[in-house]
Amino acid sequence: MPFVTTTESGVSIQGPTATLIYDDWYPALRTDQLRPGKLATAMLLDIPLVLGRRADGRVFAMRDSCPHRGIPLRYGWFDGNHVTCRYHGWEFEPCSGQCALIPSLSSHDHLDATRIYATAFPCEERDGHAWVFIPSAGTGRKAESADRRPVPELAKFGPRHRTAHLAADLPCNVDHGIIGLMDPAHGPFAHQAWWWRSRSSIREKPKRFEPIPEGFRMSAHAPSGNSAPYKLLGVYGQPIETTIDFVLPNRRTEIIRCGPKWFSSLTTVTPVTASTCRVDVIAAWNVFYYVPFVTPIAKFFGAKFVRQDQVTMIQQAEGLRHNPSLMLIDDADKPAKWYFALKQARLETTPGALSKHPMDGHVDLHWRS
Ligand code: FES
Ligand SMILES: [Fe+2]
Repeated sequence: MPFVTTTESGVSIQGPTATLIYDDWYPALRTDQLRPGKLATAMLLDIPLVLGRRADGRVFAMRDSCPHRGIPLRYGWFDGNHVTCRYHGWEFEPCSGQCALIPSLSSHDHLDATRIYATAFPCEERDGHAWVFIPSAGTGRKAESADRRPVPELAKFGPRHRTAHLAADLPCNVDHGIIGLMDPAHGPFAHQAWWWRSRSSIREKPKRFEPIPEGFRMSAHAPSGNSAPYKLLGVYGQPIETTIDFVLPNRRTEIIRCGPKWFSSLTTVTPVTASTCRVDVIAAWNVFYYVPFVTPIAKFFGAKFVRQDQVTMIQQAEGLRHNPSLMLIDDADKPAKWYFALKQARLETTPGALSKHPMDGHVDLHWRS
């Protein structure tokens, strides 16, 4: 069920769809939602999922559909070991999807229940996300684990750190979510705030980019001197270095280091359906580790920031509903152009092969923001 967003003016939105990238890991939900003996649901790439945590702690994700007659498995029962369908009571081992019991079978039947499988997706817990691997259709019940890319993980540079998570549903497709995320020119307009920066602080900023596998890196640089959080980091009196990477299908990582102090974030824009997405930000830092309330304060400012993007995109979705023609300009939209080229290359590449890269070396971009 594609969720429909209603704007303040009461307009419901179902915008244009995006092509989806399969054979990769996406965050389905936060694992603190997985309570013992309970099932939780999520939607990823238009696939309804039912998730849970087995009694031994392992997390699982199944297609929320019984292979017998298609009733959603979430209406059934979960005892910590097996998921039982509420219609005819078939029982499934949830990590493999293997059927363990068909209650109606009698001694006259020869059907081997264990040869029947519900669809189970590879599912791993990292940084509080339940990451689910979504194979492309027709690649079999489970792609060989050796062929799978590694599960994404937030970079951390020491055991003592604080963490936070923020999420926002966006009523636009994943492409708009991603290019909105990497857009350097919206900052002074969509994120006006005393603690961030204002229109009047706009200045020209040269940025160097380099190609990395399936993505690009904004090469290590001293961050904007005109934004308050970075000024705060400056209190340590050591040079600050920031590296920002974008990697397919949907990941932006930012690492800020200042001597022994660091801040690290992983932002993902996940297709919930072909026309909607969700942005998740997970972050870890050891900056101001000893300052009380630093996590709620960071969450407060982070949430405001994400909310500003969300409000902008809800308004944008109102316009996109009418499928207008759009433009990408140089240099400020160049990262968006690379994203589309990288995505196209990946969609055209056979699994296992290296897709071609739109950049053949470093590029210097200039914009005012
Ligand atoms: S529909 Fe699930 S057991 Fe029949
Ligand atoms: Fe933004």
